[in-house]
Amino acid sequence: MSDAPTRSRILYIDDDPVLARLIQKALARVGIEVVHAPDATEADRLLLGEKFSAVVLDHYLPSGTGIDILARMRAAGSKVPAIYVTGSSEATVAVAALKAGADDYVIKSATEEFLPLLERSIRQAIVKLELEEARDRADAETHAARARAEMLLSEVHHRVANSLAMVQSLLRLQAQASASEEVRTALAEAQGRIGAVAAVHRSLYLGNEGRQVELGTYLRTMLSDFTATLPSEVRLEVATVPVHIGADRAVCLGVVVSELVTNAAKYAWPGGTGGRLSVTLAEGRDGKGRLVVADDGIGSSPLSESRGTGLGRRLMRAMVDQLGGTVEQPDTARGTTVVIEFETECETVG
Ligand SMILES: Nc1ncnc2c1ncn2[C@@H]1O[C@H](COP(=O)(O)OP(=O)(O)OP(=O)(O)O)[C@@H](O)[C@H]1O
Ligand SMILES: [Mg+2]
Repeated sequence: MSDAPTRSRILYIDDDPVLARLIQKALARVGIEVVHAPDATEADRLLLGEKFSAVVLDHYLPSGTGIDILARMRAAGSKVPAIYVTGSSEATVAVAALKAGADDYVIKSATEEFLPLLERSIRQAIVKLELEEARDRADAETHAARARAEMLLSEVHHRVANSLAMVQSLLRLQAQASASEEVRTALAEAQGRIGAVAAVHRSLYLGNEGRQVELGTYLRTMLSDFTATLPSEVRLEVATVPVHIGADRAVCLGVVVSELVTNAAKYAWPGGTGGRLSVTLAEGRDGKGRLVVADDGIGSSPLSESRGTGLGRRLMRAMVDQLGGTVEQPDTARGTTVVIEFETECETVG
């Protein structure tokens, strides 16, 4: 075992000045400073005002016992290692001392045996205390670093969301300034797509769960931005169950939902009649997620030619592929229903 560091200071509580002197000399040789308290009053005073690496308590003191001092120390929350010194025939005292919070006890016998035992016990106590303190410091540092990182990350998400909101309003201004209906529509769709990305950053900022988002909450946030742009005749209904998913995957699904909702708004009710549009997030088979976007409009075929740019369909395909998911458009009596199934966990770590 290595030598105890020279800064170690212990408190020795005993009314025997000769033994105290002996211990002071013996321990000074191994770099341990011994402060002597001859009674409880002096011991309490020193313990209150100074920091010790360990405390050694003798049992019989002028008034009361070492156990009384030890009990007071522990009641006050002190964690300083305590070594109790008892006479050779006092097993019950040793047990009582351990119960009162002593870390070890040493039997006071002939000094040539007693001193090395006491020294070893003190060294062990000091090493243990230092290890515990080092562990507490490391824990506190890890904790603080984590809290800082989380705060920073949350701040970054907040800023990204704000910046994207600014990009959206720039597009809105540009749309308002344009005389062409086609340009206005294109810019409005671009706003929707950016909104799907922005909403995930807002969820991450509010959720504070690192890189995971609750998909239902995210979709609701995203769709609430959409309702403002939907014709007033369209009733949007959203139903979700809690699904935790990586942020990147949530953005993919957000873009898909954005495309499907935009399509319904554009094509499902050509006469401007409007109707019911629903977005439902549920648990699918085998722990998969199941997202259904359905409207009660004129209906469409999965093979319908794109009347627009074709970008919507390409985006959707790319997003679903990235998720390793599937898209289906089942036959329905009315309207269009699109079902997306996706893994909620990523197979590859990244
Ligand atoms: N909910 C719907 N109701 C009725 N028709 C739809 C619906 N969704 C899609 N369609 C039809 O399917 C076609 C293909 O949709 P798709 O999203 O691929 O292209 P788009 O919306 O026309 O253009 P963009 O590439 O800009 O999204 C649309 O042009 C439309 O005719
Ligand atoms: Mg489209």
